Amino acid sequence: MTPATVVQHKDFLSVLDFEAAEFERCVGLAAQVKRVRALGREAPMAEALSGRHVGLLFDKPSLRTRTTFEIAVRELGGEVVALQADAALGRREPVADVARNLERWLHAVVVRTFSQRLLVALAAAAHCLHVVNALTDEEHPCQAIADILTLHEHLGRLRGRTIAYVGDGNNVATSLAHAAAMVGLHLHVASPAGYQLPDRVVQQAAAVARCGARLRLFTDPVAAVAGADAVYTDTWTSMGQEHEAEVRRHVFAPYQVNEELMSHAGPGALFMHCLPAHRGEEVTEAVFESKGSIVFDQAENRLHGQKALLLMLLNTMPDCELRMVDL
Ligand code: CP
Ligand code: NVA
Repeated sequence: MTPATVVQHKDFLSVLDFEAAEFERCVGLAAQVKRVRALGREAPMAEALSGRHVGLLFDKPSLRTRTTFEIAVRELGGEVVALQADAALGRREPVADVARNLERWLHAVVVRTFSQRLLVALAAAAHCLHVVNALTDEEHPCQAIADILTLHEHLGRLRGRTIAYVGDGNNVATSLAHAAAMVGLHLHVASPAGYQLPDRVVQQAAAVARCGARLRLFTDPVAAVAGADAVYTDTWTSMGQEHEAEVRRHVFAPYQVNEELMSHAGPGALFMHCLPAHRGEEVTEAVFESKGSIVFDQAENRLHGQKALLLMLLNTMPDCELRMVDL
């Protein structure tokens, strides 16, 4: 086991569960596992999860998160168990009972659900089960690992760079705000009134900010993207908010990321999106397909990020040379 990759935390429910240095090590480890993936079964971590079972419990749809966790566990030599969300998330029996069942069989469980509070309750009830947040209404921390790795690959050193997030102050924006603060990135968030990042998140980001990282909220998207190195957006209507879709389409229309808005960003600014994207809504086809669009790099890096996270949480990183990245 390489001490540099060991974390003391049982769970990853939020980026804030990691110290800034741990989060950076996770991104560095993701870069490392990406470099050695081509070695296949010869990769140093190919048996790291041997004999371990990881449950996947998804109460909302998923393409990227589910697929990448499944491949990550398999490529680390572990076994995946698909759990039935309607049988497991507090509808048949209390979530604390579910947790105390799961920990008798599994080493970790990856959960996508609505309520962060339910996830916290599940993690608290299971004393030796690692619980990973695969997205709740409040946070999407695994996405943030991939996002920071992707930004590092395209921009190099991140400290002092500026990213603009345009759109809903939602789960993706929250985890991005936590992660950006930890790695020294300035983050501008432009949202309509009533849809801004919660005050709690602004305070949390300020509390973990390093190297002068600043989070600034805007209502004007043009002001937010001015000079930015990357512009990030997400759906206007998250899973579970479908009944608000029509109102949201109207409220968010001025926040569309289009070529005009991108022209106010820095020269060669990157375009980012966690996906799935809705062309003609939060982003135009032209921006989505533009040269600066790195959305599929983000998607690819979900795989490497999930592997790094599992290696760190389960403390199963084999003893091998680690080259960390300088964010
Ligand atoms: N970005 C993301 O989490 O994608 P999925 O909803 O497909 O998992
Ligand atoms: N904010 C979106 C992210 C999907 C990956 C949602 O919660 O639906």
